[in-house]
Amino acid sequence: MSDREIRLNDPQTLYRHWEESQWSPFAVDLDHDCRQWAGIGDEARGLIGWVLGSLMVAEERITTKFSGLVGAYGSEEEAAFLATQQVDEARHMQFYARFRDEVIDSPATVAAHVARARKQVSPAFRKIFDEALVEAHEQLVAEPGAMVAKVRFVTLYHLVLESTLGLTTFEFVTDYLDREQLLPGFVDGYSKIHHDETRHIGYGVWYLRETVRDHPAAADQVRATLRELLPSVAESLTPGTGGDGPDIGTLGVEPDAIREFALAGLARRLEIIGVPIGTL
Ligand SMILES: [Fe+2]
Ligand SMILES: [Fe+2]
Repeated sequence: MSDREIRLNDPQTLYRHWEESQWSPFAVDLDHDCRQWAGIGDEARGLIGWVLGSLMVAEERITTKFSGLVGAYGSEEEAAFLATQQVDEARHMQFYARFRDEVIDSPATVAAHVARARKQVSPAFRKIFDEALVEAHEQLVAEPGAMVAKVRFVTLYHLVLESTLGLTTFEFVTDYLDREQLLPGFVDGYSKIHHDETRHIGYGVWYLRETVRDHPAAADQVRATLRELLPSVAESLTPGTGGDGPDIGTLGVEPDAIREFALAGLARRLEIIGVPIGTL
């Protein structure tokens, strides 16, 4: 299938979808999860605690390192859509914080939850979220009109974090929780977050395809950003194989299957964008 045949939603359409997709992190029913959490065995608790901690840290970064993109809009419609994405990310952070308040820890500020969760994240995870994302965001804030800075940011944020890391984590974690009949309230909230994320990724793919079509330098920037970050992404997805994370064998899948899923999704999106994975 050629990229011409795939119709992508433009920012105005994505904005309309947002208006029709409102939900509240405080309306998700967590009663069953609260009762279930105390009785979950050590192995599962270690894995779930690690996943939830990673999500908490990631979502804090993703929420607070986004406003530069809102300021780098190309049209009023794009500004409107990007404003909705910023609200969504804050909502996601609120859901993860509420889950910690009510199910895992005791009520605390987001900063306190993040500080606790940070103790467990790997060096590869830190490189992506604390170094690359922070730098790309600062660059965009400094130069909102610079196409290359915006392409780098969207490649990192929408293509690497939200697609390659985010969709893959969602796929295997919800599969595991559903199979083991664990934490249905968490799965419900996480699924609503996932629905928002597919809209965000739709924007990122749209923006990169439009920009790559008109500017060869944009394709080079996509390639350079991916070449730099893919090793850390692969490491973050399979922590049991290097860092001091939990044994992800508990998920019931091989690390290779996780990497293959992530890579196949990335390859599909790169094809649409016009930067085939073979050209990296
Ligand atoms: Fe999010
Ligand atoms: Fe998102």
